[in-house]
Amino acid sequence: MRSAKFITFEGVDGAGKSTHLEWFADTLRKRGIDLLVTREPGGTLLGERLREILLNQPMHAETEAMLMFAARREHVEQVIRPALQCGTWVISDRFSDASFAYQGGGRGVPLAKLEQLEQWVHGDLQPHLTLLFDIPIEIARQRLSNNVSLDRFEQERGEFFERVRQAYLARVARNPQRFAVIHAEKTLPEVQKALAKIVATL
Ligand code: TYD
Repeated sequence: MRSAKFITFEGVDGAGKSTHLEWFADTLRKRGIDLLVTREPGGTLLGERLREILLNQPMHAETEAMLMFAARREHVEQVIRPALQCGTWVISDRFSDASFAYQGGGRGVPLAKLEQLEQWVHGDLQPHLTLLFDIPIEIARQRLSNNVSLDRFEQERGEFFERVRQAYLARVARNPQRFAVIHAEKTLPEVQKALAKIVATL
C-alpha cells in the first residue's frame, strides 16, 4: 500500500504527452496496477471550472499562477492524496512543474512567488517521478498546427514556448533524480520503447 506512486507528465503543447500518457497508463494497468489518471488544471469539479476560465479568459500572469495553484490545492486534497492513501497510483497530466514552466518561464512570474505557492499548496507532496516530453519548439508548433481550435496558451508565439521549454529543463537540472526526460520528436515506437524501460524500473 505504501508503494502507491504519484507520476506526472509534462511538456510543451504539441509534445504528444497525452497520447503517451494513455499508452503508459494502459501498460501499467495490464501489469495489474490500480491506477487513477487525472489532469491539471482540472481533476475536480471546481478544478474543471477553473480550467475553462484559465484556458479562455485573459488575466494577469500572477492571477493565472494563483488560480493554477488554487485548482491544484483542491486536486491534491480531494483526489491525489486520498488515492495514494488507498494504495492507488496516480498519473497526472501536468502538475506544478507546468506552473514553473508556463507562468514562471513563459509569463515571467518570479520563481520565489511560485515556490511560496508550491510550498503552501503541496509542500509535503512531490511526484515520485516526472516524465518530461522534451521537443524542439518548431516540431511541437508543426504538430499543433493540425489542431482546429487552439486555447489561450496554444495560441502563444514560438518565443513563449522556447521560454517554457527552458524553464522545464531548468527544473530537471534542479531535481535530476525526479525527472526522466523523453525525446518526444522521436517516432511513436521509439518513444514507447523508452517508456517501457521506465515501466520496468517501477
Ligand atoms: P494541456 O495538458 O496542454 O491540455 P490539452 O492537451 O487538452 O490542450 O493543458 C492545458 C494548458 O494549461 C497548457 O497549455 C499548459 C497550461 N498550464 C499552465 O500554464 N500552468 C499550469 O500549472 C498547468 C497545470 C497547465
